[in-house]
Amino acid sequence: MDLHIDKVLIDRNTIAQRVKKLAEQINSDFTNIINSEFHTNNTTPPPLIIIPIMTGSIVFLADLMRQLPIFMRIRIISASSYTGNSTTNQNIKLNTPLPDDLENAHILLLDDILDSGQTLTVIRQLLEQQQPATIKTCVLLRKRIPSAMAVHADYVGFDIDDNFVIGYGLDYNDFYRNLPDIAILKPEAMH
Ligand code: IMP
Ligand code: MG
Repeated sequence: MDLHIDKVLIDRNTIAQRVKKLAEQINSDFTNIINSEFHTNNTTPPPLIIIPIMTGSIVFLADLMRQLPIFMRIRIISASSYTGNSTTNQNIKLNTPLPDDLENAHILLLDDILDSGQTLTVIRQLLEQQQPATIKTCVLLRKRIPSAMAVHADYVGFDIDDNFVIGYGLDYNDFYRNLPDIAILKPEAMH
C-alpha cells in the first residue's frame, strides 16, 4: 500500500486529537439542545441520531462515537456519488432506504469529505422532509474549493487543498480505506 502513497497529509495522531475536539463540541451542543427541550426528570431524554453516510465515514464514525458520552443511536445511509458534469440530484444514488422515523429527531449527519457538496446537500434535503427537530452536519474533511465552501457544515475536522485523498475510510475505487492516516495517492496509482 505504501508504494501507492505520495505523502501523508494528516497523520493518525493529529486525526485522533481533532476527532476528540469535535466530539467534545458535538456532545456539548446536542446535550444543550436536547436538555433545553426536555424538562421531565423521570424519563429518558430523546437520543441523538447519528446518520453516517457509508462507506467513507465508517472509520470516522467508529472513532467519533466512542468519544460521545451521550444517549444515541445510528441510522446508516449508503450513497454513491458520480463525478458527472451535471450538478443535479441525479449524481447521488442512495443504496439503502432512508430511515423513516426522524420526525422531531435530533440528527447529526456525518460524511467523510465535502467536495462538490452534492451528497450532503441532497441527503440533508431528503431528511428535512421528515421534519426533524435538529439537523446538524459534520464532515471530517472539506476541500478548499468554492463548491465545498458554499455548503454549510456545522462541524469540520480539517480544511485541505484540492487533492484526491485516501485513508481513514476514504477510498480510491474502494481501496485504501484501511490506511490509518489520510494520504495523497500517487497519480500513477489512479487508473
Ligand atoms: P461530494 O458529493 O462531491 O461532496 O462528494 C462527497 C463524496 O465523494 C465523499 O463522500 C467521498 O466518498 C467522495 N470523495 C470526494 N472527494 C474525495 C477524495 O479526495 N477522496 C476520496 N473520496 C472523495
Ligand atoms: Mg467514496
